[in-house]
Amino acid sequence: MRNDKAQFSTRIGVVAVTVGSAVGLGNIWRFPFEAGMHGGGAFLLLNLLFVFLIGIPVICAEFIIGRNTGSNVRTAFRKLAPGEPWGAVGYIGLLSSVLIISFYSVVAGWTMEYIFRSASGFSGVHSVAGLHDQFDSFATSDWRPALWTVIFLLCNYLILVRGVEKGIEKVSNVLMPALFLILIIFAVRSLTMPAAREGLEFLFRPDFQKITPSVVLGAMGQAFFSLSLGLGGLITYASYFNRRTSLVRTAGITAGLDMLVAVLAGVIIFPAVFTFGMEPAAGPELVFEVLPSIFCNMTGSIFWSTLFFILLFLASLTSTISMSEIQIAYLMEEKGMGRRKATNVAVLIAAGLGVLCALSFGSLSGLRVFGMTLFGLFDYLASNILLPLGGMLISLFVGWRLKREIVDNELLYGRKTIFRRMVICAIMFSLRYVAPACILLVFLFGLGIF
Ligand code: TRP
Repeated sequence: MRNDKAQFSTRIGVVAVTVGSAVGLGNIWRFPFEAGMHGGGAFLLLNLLFVFLIGIPVICAEFIIGRNTGSNVRTAFRKLAPGEPWGAVGYIGLLSSVLIISFYSVVAGWTMEYIFRSASGFSGVHSVAGLHDQFDSFATSDWRPALWTVIFLLCNYLILVRGVEKGIEKVSNVLMPALFLILIIFAVRSLTMPAAREGLEFLFRPDFQKITPSVVLGAMGQAFFSLSLGLGGLITYASYFNRRTSLVRTAGITAGLDMLVAVLAGVIIFPAVFTFGMEPAAGPELVFEVLPSIFCNMTGSIFWSTLFFILLFLASLTSTISMSEIQIAYLMEEKGMGRRKATNVAVLIAAGLGVLCALSFGSLSGLRVFGMTLFGLFDYLASNILLPLGGMLISLFVGWRLKREIVDNELLYGRKTIFRRMVICAIMFSLRYVAPACILLVFLFGLGIF
């Protein structure tokens, strides 16, 4: 069953693709704007709590399912629990991956526009108000954002048709370290700005009064989104892992690096926000207005900002690849399609919905569902509802339904040290009780059911 499957070839490759899936716009674009809207330090603290309490165990759960079955989300549940309703988890995963890739590609398209704007020195505009207007008139126009969305998905396509090892692994290996380095350089620049202290206080000093049910729900959604969790993306990736990969260690490294990048992004953004007198709660445009302002205050601004947006674009690419791969693996293994055809289908659906999301800042901005634009709705529905729901079902499945033998086999692989047993106990405890209960409670409060 496993031998005919493609596999990632090196250990560093396994970590790089998993981190590549996790690190993306979720850390650098979504985390700062969500933290900005939800009270800074309190949001960060809750986010960290969710990552360690729920995130790491659920990553392990997805890894166990994926490596054990060597299958995509849908097939995995069919193999492990034939004929049982657990199969629905596969469909939730497929649906949310379609929703996420649609709005995600729009923002990735913005980063492509900003590569070219950076290279032109933002047409000489340096003022905060000018940069704001520039972003506004770009995002609300119709054809450019829509066109970039499609171009971005084409890039995605070109990597995906080449397959798992050749495409995905190669890109991730080079990219992640480069992104990391450049973030550190910007963080240093930002920390020397006049209002650095205020920015850091906003990010790191939790104001417990700001914790409301919707902040808690947002922080949980962010944890799931940023870790690529809850829809079987990691099940799919783990199906390409070999036997020697340590699942727990890979989960820990992924969560740690992912949080580190998000915090670095915060350290870059907030000192600048306060220095330039901007509004931390500006929403999705925050990063696209703040970063250019930082760059304009650096020597060699054109070089740095162009490089940054190129890296951000590439980091988005390694994340969307993992979302499309969920659908492609499903179409290939379950519907018998060839790789090319499956990729065509997945990318075409994403392009159709992606264009609608892009237009939802322009011509379609009047179209509101529950007061949200299409873009906002897709994000809210997927991140705050479907991902945690998928995560809850996955933890219940591995905690209660899956044979304990399989868990032990995947996590211990022969070496029964006391330390390993303790780690497994902790993970199982979280999967059985902590994660499902936490997610349920946050749902009841956050959605106002309670
Ligand atoms: N985690 C990625 C980011 O932070 C986004 C992502 C990739 C994702 N694959 C996913 C989110 C699967 C949810 C599910 O940018």
